[in-house]
Amino acid sequence: MKIVITIGGSIIIKEYDHQKFKAYAEILDSLKDQHEIFVVVGGGQPARDYINIARNLQGGEANCDDIGIDVTRLNAKLLIMALGDNAYPSVPENFHHALEYSTSNRIVVMGGTEPAHSTDAVGAILAEFVKADLIINLTSVDGLYDKDPNKNPDAKLYTEVTASKMMEFLSDKEVKAGTYEFFDMTAIQMIKRSGIKTIIANGNYPENLLNVLNDKIGTTIIPE
Ligand code: UTP
Repeated sequence: MKIVITIGGSIIIKEYDHQKFKAYAEILDSLKDQHEIFVVVGGGQPARDYINIARNLQGGEANCDDIGIDVTRLNAKLLIMALGDNAYPSVPENFHHALEYSTSNRIVVMGGTEPAHSTDAVGAILAEFVKADLIINLTSVDGLYDKDPNKNPDAKLYTEVTASKMMEFLSDKEVKAGTYEFFDMTAIQMIKRSGIKTIIANGNYPENLLNVLNDKIGTTIIPE
C-alpha cells in the first residue's frame, strides 16, 4: 500500500528528546519493505511557543503560521536523521517535491506547506496528490469521542464516522495559528473529496502504527 502517516508534534516532540523519533524510525523501518510511506510531522509545543512569541511581536496570523511551519520542518529533519538511509535526506517544501523525492524509493518526511491549516491537512492533500491508499493520523487521543473524554469519563469512542459528520463536529472550531485542534476542516474536506480511507489513532504508542494496519484500533473516517 501507499500510506501517508501524520504524526502529531504533540506526540513526537512531547518529551523534548530523541526517544519517540527513534521509536518511530524503528517501526517505519519494519514497514518500508511492504509499503510506500510518506510521513508528515507536526509542530507540537515548540511550534506553539514560537507562535506565541511571534504573536506578541504582532507578527500577524499568517506569519505566526509560517513560524509554525518552520518548526514542523525542524521536527521532520529530526525524524529524517533518526531514519538514516531509509529516508530521503531533504524535507520537501511542497507536494511536487514530495512526489519527486519518493522516486528514490525511500521514506519521504515533510512538515507543513503553507499558512492557514495544520499538518493534518498537509497529510490529506499529500495523500490525494500521491494517490495514497490510506491515511493514518496519529494523534494524542484514541480517536474521535462523542464528548470530551478528559471531562466525561463515560465518553464513547467512535470506531467509524463519516467525513460529513466530522465536519459538523468541527464547524465551530477556531481558525488561528497553533490551534487547529484535533483535526482541521481543510483536512476533512480533502478526505471527503479524495475518497481515501483515514484512520485516527493514538500515536503516543508507536507500535499502534502496526495495530492500525491490522484494523484493530482507532476511529476510521469513511470518506462520504
Ligand atoms: P500542527 O498544528 O500541524 O502541528 O502545526 P501539531 O502540533 O503536530 O498539531 P497536533 O499535535 O496534531 O495538535 C503547528 C502549527 O504550524 C502552522 C499552524 O499554525 C499550526 O498550528 N502550520 C502547520 C501551518 O500554518 N501550515 C501547515 O501546513 C502546517
